[in-house]
Amino acid sequence: METRIDEVADRIFRLSTFVPDIGPTGFTFNQYLIDDDEPLLFHTGHRAMFPLVSEAIATVTPLDRLRWITFGHVEADECGSMNEFLAAAPNARVAHGALGCMVSINDLADRPPVPLADGEVIELGDHRVRHIDTPHVPHGWEARLLFEETTSTLLCGDLFTQLGDPPAISTDDVLGPAAKAEDIFGYSCLTPRTGPTIRSLADLAPTTLAVMHGSCYAGDGVKALRSLADEYDARIASAGA
Ligand SMILES: [Fe+2]
Ligand SMILES: [Fe+2]
Repeated sequence: METRIDEVADRIFRLSTFVPDIGPTGFTFNQYLIDDDEPLLFHTGHRAMFPLVSEAIATVTPLDRLRWITFGHVEADECGSMNEFLAAAPNARVAHGALGCMVSINDLADRPPVPLADGEVIELGDHRVRHIDTPHVPHGWEARLLFEETTSTLLCGDLFTQLGDPPAISTDDVLGPAAKAEDIFGYSCLTPRTGPTIRSLADLAPTTLAVMHGSCYAGDGVKALRSLADEYDARIASAGA
């Protein structure tokens, strides 16, 4: 396995590792590094991937410059090597929603995390990341996402998950591949709040969707997110029919 690096927005790097034996056509695990005065990592990858991911980060910036360790929710691919990164970067802190800190991260993290209020912004230097609580979207009570305001990049985690090893960034239809992945994995928590939560993300008007599994999407993020919300509404309606 190797971890590829692509710059998908100004100083926002997608680190992607393809694992061929997951699902019918393999699966990517992506982390995002925002390189700035206070470098931020979104998703750590599994513990077993720490050597690959940390080596990839070091080609952009020294590992011990990392200041913020962040992720969408508590799962091994999102935060498995959180403590390895805390050990490698002595000035780094985990930052997460207050609920996630209280429920899990205060206990799991080797240093106390920084609890964030919904909508709170971390200034990285040139970049600004806004923390957004999205409970149970796509899954996990503590689920949250980040929006980088200067590049209008939504770090959207498992939303728009795609199979295979598609290009780093694409303008192609993103809903069709995401619906196919949902059919296969059934990874999303389908509740009456799923559609409205995703529509509220559309209100941010992102132009880049930084996806955790698959290609980033460059284009009309409002339309893509509203289509995804409609897709989930339809699934919920048909499940209850
Ligand atoms: Fe997940
Ligand atoms: Fe994930």
